Amino acid sequence: MLYFSGTGNTRYCVSLLSDSLGRKEIPCPIEKKEAVEVLRSHEALILAYPIQYSNLPDIVRVFIEQNRECWRGKQVFLMATMGLFSGDGTGVAARLLKKYGAVVTGGVHIRMPDSVADVKTLIKPEKENRQIVAAAGEKVRRTAERIKQGKMPRQGLGVFSHLLGLFGQRLYFWNAAQKYKNALKIDTKKCMGCGQCAACCPRENLFMNGKIPHQKGNCTMCYRCISACPAQAITLIGKEVVEQICIEKFL
Ligand SMILES: Cc1cc2nc3c(=O)[nH]c(=O)nc-3n(C[C@H](O)[C@H](O)[C@H](O)COP(=O)(O)O)c2cc1C
Ligand code: SF4
Ligand code: SF4
Repeated sequence: MLYFSGTGNTRYCVSLLSDSLGRKEIPCPIEKKEAVEVLRSHEALILAYPIQYSNLPDIVRVFIEQNRECWRGKQVFLMATMGLFSGDGTGVAARLLKKYGAVVTGGVHIRMPDSVADVKTLIKPEKENRQIVAAAGEKVRRTAERIKQGKMPRQGLGVFSHLLGLFGQRLYFWNAAQKYKNALKIDTKKCMGCGQCAACCPRENLFMNGKIPHQKGNCTMCYRCISACPAQAITLIGKEVVEQICIEKFL
């Protein structure tokens, strides 16, 4: 199992799927160098990731494309986590993987807390997020049962889902991944220079110059640093951190 996760939602879902399937391997994050070996050495894989504007996070797209020669003939089941809606969250990866010769065996969408910590309208009360995570857990367990029976769900993979994803969001946010690559705002008055943001970034987009973090223009919008910063000094889409999101709060 391979996955990407910014604030832990996808990590939680894919780990639960792994346990529910009785698998012993620990799912591997795609930013680790071992991920390519996991991809190369397995014929059947599960790939899990969060949805961003009904699209793939840049880091997931790049992982699929950079390893394009490895996908031919692989059977891939897709899991996409999202705050509310994606239309074809699994479909976006499915189309790319099919182009590189993979066989997409199924897909599932899992609703989880929204990870955008700096947009007030997206933040739900803790009680509601706990309920969402509990319902997600049930759905993941049901998915595992279906996989065991060979009755793979095909959520997000049809033509109607494709149209929903495209016209529901993707067309309006076509360029979001490019636009936000270098758009992190770091409030130097709040920043304490602890370096936690640079240490947790999956893209090595942040680096410390003395006590001050700088960005290299390679952000994948995962919100990991925004949720980890002890001074709430980092924002991306919004202007102020409303609530830092991490899965552990809702378990
Ligand atoms: C930049 C960005 C864009 C997002 N766009 C969507 C979206 O289009 N639809 C949706 O339902 N959730 C969206 N979300 C919410 C995440 O997909 C959701 O919270 C996901 O479970 C986060 O998983 P993670 O903790 O594994 O990163 C977005 C989150 C971010 C950070
Ligand atoms: S995590 Fe926050 S406080 Fe620490 S260096 Fe980064 S921006 Fe500054
Ligand atoms: S800079 Fe922050 S939001 Fe961007 S990729 Fe790194 S951890 Fe994620």
